[in-house]
Amino acid sequence: MSTSRTSFHATEPVPAPGSDQVPVPGRDPASASGRGSFTGLVLTLAMAVAALLFHPAAFAQQAAPPQAAAAQDGSPPSPGGGNGILVAYFSHEGHTRALAEIIHAAVGGDLFEIRAVKSYPLDHEQAVSIGKDEQAAQIRPALAANVPDMSKYSTVILGYPIWWGDPPMAVYTFVETHDLGGKTVAPFCTHGGSGLSRTVQSLQEKISGGKVLPGLAVRSNSADSSGDEAREWLQKSGIPLLPRQ
Ligand SMILES: Cc1cc2nc3c(=O)[nH]c(=O)nc-3n(C[C@H](O)[C@H](O)[C@H](O)COP(=O)(O)O)c2cc1C
Repeated sequence: MSTSRTSFHATEPVPAPGSDQVPVPGRDPASASGRGSFTGLVLTLAMAVAALLFHPAAFAQQAAPPQAAAAQDGSPPSPGGGNGILVAYFSHEGHTRALAEIIHAAVGGDLFEIRAVKSYPLDHEQAVSIGKDEQAAQIRPALAANVPDMSKYSTVILGYPIWWGDPPMAVYTFVETHDLGGKTVAPFCTHGGSGLSRTVQSLQEKISGGKVLPGLAVRSNSADSSGDEAREWLQKSGIPLLPRQ
């Protein structure tokens, strides 16, 4: 994983797929060719649309996955906005982000990055040391942003790296400050060899009234290529998959 994936200035919560898309006006060829008095106007509009489509900023946004209403098993979307699925993750060095993006592409819904207000140093050893201290003191770092409306979601797919056999403390901040009661929580992690450790039980202890499913553990160096494993886990967890692209 290249360190270029690491970002401490990542985006705010990503809105529901489609919600940030600007509708492109339809272009009726008849209106351009058959109505001379409107030709100039139509040409101007077409140029404006082309400029919008090919402007570099149009490619800066994350491609929104298709609506999960097209779930493979034909089940209707869950109540609330979108398909009721939130993929929330913490990532310091980018591996968990890579896996979260793979999972998000497989299920749709919304993608949210859990970030602490105070970012961790890029230096691995320093981060390891701070992570250990925070765990020892059971710190709950303040989050840079919160999910605005948790009631939209019935399923939260929660990703984190393993830090000293635990999720980073910011993940505990997230589960303790967001109402996960009545929701299904599917945890996944990336790790350097410890697997999930005790994190599933630990999350279940902190999420009262929510059901934590068996988790998915992927080694850091496999995070980029774990699509099949992730889809299999999602299917076993009863989370509807979008058709493969
Ligand atoms: C503070 C810290 C503590 C870690 N502790 C463990 C650990 O206990 N067990 C383990 O297998 N990997 C450990 N790792 C390695 C990470 O779990 C692994 O590199 C993970 O994929 C990083 O995810 P990220 O790139 O999304 O931040 C630790 C890494 C850091 C920075």
